[in-house]
Amino acid sequence: MRTLRDISALRETLNDARRRGERIALVPTMGNLHDGHLALVAAARQRAERVVATIFVNPLQFGAGEDLDAYPRTLEEDQSRLEAAGCDLLFAPDTAAIYPRGLEAQTRIVVPEVTEGLCGASRPGHFDGVSTVVGMLFNLVQPDLACFGEKDYQQLAVIRRLVADLHLPIEIVGVPIVRAADGLALSSRNGYLSPEQRASAPRLYATLCQLRDRLESGADTSTSLAHGWADLQAAGLDPDYLELRASDLSPVTDATREAVLLAAARLGATRLIDNLTLTLPH
Ligand code: PAF
Repeated sequence: MRTLRDISALRETLNDARRRGERIALVPTMGNLHDGHLALVAAARQRAERVVATIFVNPLQFGAGEDLDAYPRTLEEDQSRLEAAGCDLLFAPDTAAIYPRGLEAQTRIVVPEVTEGLCGASRPGHFDGVSTVVGMLFNLVQPDLACFGEKDYQQLAVIRRLVADLHLPIEIVGVPIVRAADGLALSSRNGYLSPEQRASAPRLYATLCQLRDRLESGADTSTSLAHGWADLQAAGLDPDYLELRASDLSPVTDATREAVLLAAARLGATRLIDNLTLTLPH
């Protein structure tokens, strides 16, 4: 697996692959790779001849006071894991290559509507940063398809909308959440948790599972969500949101069947997110 740091080398290499008629799959990441990322590489590998991963800790998607500086940078381990997973090419640019004029002067992509509420409410500007860098990576790599994890459910919806609105000829593949044996969704941020916090963290998924069971058997939504909120607090988590939305993230109506429970909660300084799809009864 080759690692490229500059844009012109990336373009040249991918032009060659395209001339050979190879299908290109993109796996964008911020590094510190875990099995959830490797599932993205596996999904890409199944669908394309060339798998291109990117590692870029994107400063534009971090708010003031967030963990940009602390975000784990583990390039060598990531390279070995990507190579073993069958990735062909890693693009790992530095910030100056991506944002040569600096962050303030950067042209941005702003996706409306689907960015409102949920993580969009508690992390203002976050999705503009994600959309901008993903739009840029789409332009640099020009992939046939790109794989994103379903753990970041709202991010996936934002990227689908970006691709639709900009008429980009890219298939977006959502890859199911990979969980630890106790149910905790894998995340690079889980590494911030103390042993005690790590022991409490699976309550987030357990609460979503209990809520799903209640709602699928016809329980009242607001009462169930209030119970879920109290359960999270009782387990030492500080909920940011706990919501039921239609699977396209629009508000739930009487006609909604395919829905999703979405939650974000803090354990100390660490913010965890998770989600679970469900089918509401008639
Ligand atoms: O999900 C992530 O790791 C990031 O938000 C992404 C999509 C790589 C953009 O920086």
